[in-house]
Amino acid sequence: MKLFTKSLVMATISILGCLQPALAEEAKKESLTDKAVKHEKLGVTVESANHLFAEKYPLQYNSWKATSQSTDRGSALEYDPRFVILWAGYAFSKDYNKPRGHYYAVTDVRDILRTGAPKDENDGPQPSACWACKGPDVARLIEEKGERGYFDPKWAKYGSEVVNSIGCADCHDTASEEFKEGKAALRVARPHVLRALNTIGWKFEELDKHGQRPAVCANCHVEYYFKNKTDVTFPWKNGIDVDSIEKYYDEIKFADWTHALSKAPMLKTQHPDFEVWAQGTHGKNGVTCADCHMPKVKDKDGKVYTEHKIGNPFDNFEASCKTCHEQSKETLQKRVAQYKHDIRDAMIRLEDQLVKAHFEAKAAWDSGATEEEMKNILTAIRHAQWRWDYSAAGHGNHFHAPDVMLRTIATGLERAADARAELGVVLAKHNVSTPVAIPDISTKEKAQLAIGLDIPKEKAAKDEFLKTVVPQWEKEARAKGLLPAEDAPKADAK
Ligand code: HEC
Ligand code: HEC
Ligand code: HEC
Ligand code: HEC
Repeated sequence: MKLFTKSLVMATISILGCLQPALAEEAKKESLTDKAVKHEKLGVTVESANHLFAEKYPLQYNSWKATSQSTDRGSALEYDPRFVILWAGYAFSKDYNKPRGHYYAVTDVRDILRTGAPKDENDGPQPSACWACKGPDVARLIEEKGERGYFDPKWAKYGSEVVNSIGCADCHDTASEEFKEGKAALRVARPHVLRALNTIGWKFEELDKHGQRPAVCANCHVEYYFKNKTDVTFPWKNGIDVDSIEKYYDEIKFADWTHALSKAPMLKTQHPDFEVWAQGTHGKNGVTCADCHMPKVKDKDGKVYTEHKIGNPFDNFEASCKTCHEQSKETLQKRVAQYKHDIRDAMIRLEDQLVKAHFEAKAAWDSGATEEEMKNILTAIRHAQWRWDYSAAGHGNHFHAPDVMLRTIATGLERAADARAELGVVLAKHNVSTPVAIPDISTKEKAQLAIGLDIPKEKAAKDEFLKTVVPQWEKEARAKGLLPAEDAPKADAK
């Protein structure tokens, strides 16, 4: 139908030949964002194989590859076992690690228990959306298969396709003339990201380079949810702050899961780094992610290039902070450590309140509390935990906007207090004696037992998957030229 209309239009144009140049001009002006908004194919080339850029761009490639030096992926659940209770009933309670270098994104999503141990392409707990922020093969697949073709299948379907970790074509139009000349040619090629940026007045094609730099990070470092359980969607319609996003989710009555203890309709925050940065001092002053995480540096011959080893900016203090600040590295590091300490301290208080609220709500249900009695309580728990997670899930939040985080946590504490005050009344009414007993959750293992998880069983299935399925995926990927024939990234990833 579309094709037919188009050919009719074309025929009319050739008859009215004089209109052709104007319309051709119009068509040329249609941006990637315009196409994304109309759910049309972007018509982009996405060269996803990172190794193809090694020879021509050695400075950028080698520093990009050096993100492999950030190897630590300590378990966040071991670090703070309360998380297991907060996420009871949701896959995050099984396994959740701290972030590490971009180089490991594909390895880490395969290894994590949350993706399960699928045996074939229709098996496993997660949708294909779980690859969305792991690398440039995703943009390539969306272009090749269309949004439905990419988002509808299960995660395992594209195991042999998404094999390049976060790389060149995630941020650059590598097929453009500018890029060939050694310029950045920044680009976003994920339609859902272009649409979301457009919603908040950040139409990518209309941004200058100070806007485009953080926008490429917003491909992934953002809050999102899976609309209809499949489509990565940013909840930005009302705004990007904690209140606006909460309002959005409440309006559409969205819940990521139902809490296993309290039965509250919960939200899981992803990693709202972009949103929190934008509200902080640096964001408001136009200091972008790249200014700190990807500063301009010099090679041994004095050639200036962009540092692609994205990590802790303090490792590059002279080139990042020092370009604007006079204080010493020690002074600023102490300041940041203080922010981290203070925010963590407030956060733990909120976690303790939430743990109690979940167990108290369970006790209330167990003693016969009604839906009507629990309704407001569950909403208050939902809001309190959303606020906790909005502050916890962005790992640089304590520095990017310490003031915003403290307010977020304070309002979370208020909602937790609302929940527990009402719970007190309901528990008394049903003759439950307080305080409600909390099991021993002093370690990750104990907390997981307390909510009935069988982790050894899941680990055994995962080991089998990593030994049998993943090598097959990599073999197929190599045959397709998506990975280099030998010296596959996995070899030096371990
Ligand atoms: C295609 C998605 C994607 C893009 C684009 C992206 N990131 Fe990331 N980033 C991730 C993922 C996923 C991780 C966690 C990787 C892991 O732990 O396996 C991560 C980790 C990080 C880390 C932690 C690194 C460490 O060593 O601990 C920093 C810092 C970071 N990203 C900053 C940025 C900045 C700044 C930009 C933009 C210039 C950016 N990222 C663009 C997905 C992305
Ligand atoms: C997470 C996003 C991201 C990834 C991944 C990334 N780049 Fe970049 N790149 C940038 C940014 C940001 C700049 C600086 C843009 C500016 O100065 O406005 C840049 C600059 C460049 C430039 C321009 C010259 C310079 O050094 O400033 C080249 C060439 C380049 N990158 C190549 C690569 C190659 C090759 C890869 C893959 C190995 C890669 N980039 C991966 C974000 C990225
Ligand atoms: C003014 C400098 C600055 C800007 C701008 C900035 N960051 Fe950061 N970021 C930092 C510092 C410093 C840390 C580490 C804080 C610490 O050591 O406790 C950090 C931490 C992070 C982390 C956590 C890394 C980890 O391993 O835990 C991520 C992810 C991150 N930043 C992403 C971003 C993104 C994405 C943007 C832009 C949307 C951004 N940052 C903007 C300075 C900056
Ligand atoms: C491109 C310039 C620029 C860079 C790079 C930069 N800053 Fe800033 N920084 C600013 C500006 C501008 C302000 C706001 C000053 C004001 O409001 O008076 C600021 C404020 C601050 C503050 C006080 C803000 C607060 O919320 O308390 C701290 C702390 C800080 N910067 C640390 C850092 C660190 C650490 C780095 C490196 C990781 C860094 N900055 C990199 C420009 C920069």
